Amino acid sequence: MPQQEVDLIVRNIKQLLTLRGGSEGPRKGPGMTDLGVIESGSVAVRGDHIAAVGTDREVSERVRIGAHTEVIDASGRVVLPGFVDPHTHPVFAGTREEEFELRLKGASYPEIAAAGGGIRSSVRQLRQASGEQLRREALPRLDRLLAHGTTTAEAKSGYGLDLANELKSLEVIAQLNRDHPVDLVPTFLGAHEVPDEYRQDREAYIRLVEEEMIPRVANGDLAEFCDIFCEQDVFDVTESRRILIAARRAGLKLKLHADELAASGGSQLAAELGAVSADHLVHTGADGIAAMAAAGVIPVLLPGTTFFLGSDHYAPAREMIAAGLPVALATDLNPGSCMTESMPMILTLACLKMGLLPSEVICAATVNAAWAVDRGAMVGSLEEGKRADLVVWKMDNYKILPYHYGVNLVDTVIKSGQVVYRDGHFPS
Ligand code: NIG
Ligand code: FE
Repeated sequence: MPQQEVDLIVRNIKQLLTLRGGSEGPRKGPGMTDLGVIESGSVAVRGDHIAAVGTDREVSERVRIGAHTEVIDASGRVVLPGFVDPHTHPVFAGTREEEFELRLKGASYPEIAAAGGGIRSSVRQLRQASGEQLRREALPRLDRLLAHGTTTAEAKSGYGLDLANELKSLEVIAQLNRDHPVDLVPTFLGAHEVPDEYRQDREAYIRLVEEEMIPRVANGDLAEFCDIFCEQDVFDVTESRRILIAARRAGLKLKLHADELAASGGSQLAAELGAVSADHLVHTGADGIAAMAAAGVIPVLLPGTTFFLGSDHYAPAREMIAAGLPVALATDLNPGSCMTESMPMILTLACLKMGLLPSEVICAATVNAAWAVDRGAMVGSLEEGKRADLVVWKMDNYKILPYHYGVNLVDTVIKSGQVVYRDGHFPS
């Protein structure tokens, strides 16, 4: 085979986690511990895709290093696929640290929401902000995602809650996707809450979402998924079904915030409608787990939210894995219930609070997370032909990743074949 010159090569990698086979589907059960580890490995990149992966020797036989090849020496380092964060709310105006303090003094998240705070307070702030202001506030959040090893993130609207402001939020997501190296998967979340002006007439708001917002979002190609907050006192199962069926008819794929604060029937609804994922699932029982397993719904777990809300009741992740569900992990980045961009922190919490192993959390944040946003054929594992999204970590074995917590051990981030973060800096 003629040797091909490559644009970039990462070599002498102490531990290369390929997650090979990740393009075939999400990993389940004991398969979640299979990371496809190569000792003394290389990844070679041409353009925006991976040209070769294997041991140093295998790759050096297949590709050629030329005068213009960028060579990164990863001696003593671990390399993983870039994280996929499959659940974030990154477009919001202002922050809610006052509510954080109220919670520390004893108020609960639902009490704050019922008093007009919570999501509705972010809605009031977002409606005042221009698209440009929203974009400027979101950019440093995307920088922090990247700096913590995330190269693809799902991004929801849901703080506009009227036609103009939901469209404004989705347009900001589209613009951020063009301007920033992190790839965004846009999700319409018009049914995140009932806004102030419809509190006396929720039926009218549901009709607005079904009849005006969903068609405009779908026709404008502004979202790939539709999500809903299916929860007691927000949207019940009957209302959620109506909205999600309208979204599916318009060609959107489905996600649900389900069983977050109480068992709401959301996991069964996700199974009934063939949703790609159901997220949170803190209160999901055996029936919901069985229904999701039968229907192939991916559970996206958000232990950072449980932690940040000060609860000790975490999602039943071990039961889900035992039932053959391909668990994925996400930050839930948002100003109310989980203010973090750090996937490594989420991995630590998933180990300590949900009993997952270091190998399982890495699988949940790469291959399974990629499938949770329908990107499994493109990202989530390091295989020839897939997008060259990879991260060099300052550690010599992957078990350090969830263990050495609360600090950032990312060395270099490569997104679509370009070095976009190195040692604390974003080269322009
Ligand atoms: O995923 N649960 C609903 N939405 C977010 C919280 C949003 C907020 O408080 O601003 C969540 O937890
Ligand atoms: Fe959320």
